[in-house]
Amino acid sequence: MTTMTERAGPASAPIPFVDVAAQRRRLGTAIDRAVARVLDHCQFILGPEVREFEAELAAFCGARHAVGCASGTDALVMVLMALGVGPGDAVICPSFTFTATAEVAALVGATPVFADVEAASFNLDPESLRAACATARARGLRPRVVIPVDLFGQPADHDRIAAVAEAEGLFVLDDAAQAFGATYGNRRVGALAPATATSFFPAKPLGCYGDGGAVLTDDEELARVMRSIRVHGEGRDKYDCARIGLTGRLDTIQAAVLIEKLKIFPEEIVARERIARRYSASLADVATVPALARGATSVWAQYTIRLAPGRRDGLAAALKAQGIPTGIYYPTPLHRQEPYRGFPVAEGGVPVSDRLAEEVISLPMHAYLDEATQDRIIAAVRRALGA
Ligand SMILES: Cc1ncc(COP(=O)(O)O)c(C=O)c1O
Repeated sequence: MTTMTERAGPASAPIPFVDVAAQRRRLGTAIDRAVARVLDHCQFILGPEVREFEAELAAFCGARHAVGCASGTDALVMVLMALGVGPGDAVICPSFTFTATAEVAALVGATPVFADVEAASFNLDPESLRAACATARARGLRPRVVIPVDLFGQPADHDRIAAVAEAEGLFVLDDAAQAFGATYGNRRVGALAPATATSFFPAKPLGCYGDGGAVLTDDEELARVMRSIRVHGEGRDKYDCARIGLTGRLDTIQAAVLIEKLKIFPEEIVARERIARRYSASLADVATVPALARGATSVWAQYTIRLAPGRRDGLAAALKAQGIPTGIYYPTPLHRQEPYRGFPVAEGGVPVSDRLAEEVISLPMHAYLDEATQDRIIAAVRRALGA
């Protein structure tokens, strides 16, 4: 078996931000054989691998049902459709997130209402969630759903969010596109909320070789309705329409890839944790390194540091000149993006989201980042920051 650690390249060789190719080298023949099996049986749509993967995914995180689908965005939208969320409903989500989190609310005709995040975790602030509910009601909207995001791989504070959600009558839909594999207390992401959406986009901690996603839930009826929605709302059979749906299925080939990747995922999580710990130990004196909440683990979709405003462009340029890529997630919070400017923002505003958008910068992070390469990144960051 190939080892978890690949050898470092020459000192100036470009470093990948996420090294999908290193994982591919490790898994090569297993994936090839898995895909070949699908090519042989030709059940490309909802073939046996989809059911097998769904069962394994549900077992991995301790949810009763997994419904595979075409993307993380479809996973989110299928839950909203199944709940009948629509015009007049408010869907509360953080402003500091990827566009899909709010997009799905608008897609079903509901109103996204933006709440703020907590600076330490980058995740939804339960107090701002409460304020967002008041803002929604003041505008004549019904607060129906909250979509906390487990940003960069760390679970949001689900206990505190659940308490506010219960008091406000909200359904909690966890956007775990970046966090499948993380834990909160003794539970895994996928079992922290009544419904959880995740993404298998190739760069995600558990990614496939194209688009894919899943919803995890204990609710049998919700799972049944989503299985109908992902196939155009089919009812008794293919040509009986029970509801409006989507072409939202997970491809059989992607399920076959994911079955193989899930086998090594626990090992990859351990590697990501080790790499994140090393970054933090080496950079804590020059930048604000990520803080893990007590009792939580992250799956480190991103390793994101914070710098004083005005410093990150210089760091990004210095690293780029040395073949080291960086990412800025997210340079503009959603409430400031053109399509979302007209939607409500929680009373009190979202100042932390605004500030983080100016301060964050992410470093290369993947399970195959060897120590020599990581040391090169760390040294370059320290040099650029004048340490
Ligand atoms: C927080 C978050 N939500 C939702 C999505 C959507 O996932 P997908 O690209 O699979 O539709 C992403 C993908 O980047 C994401 O990061």
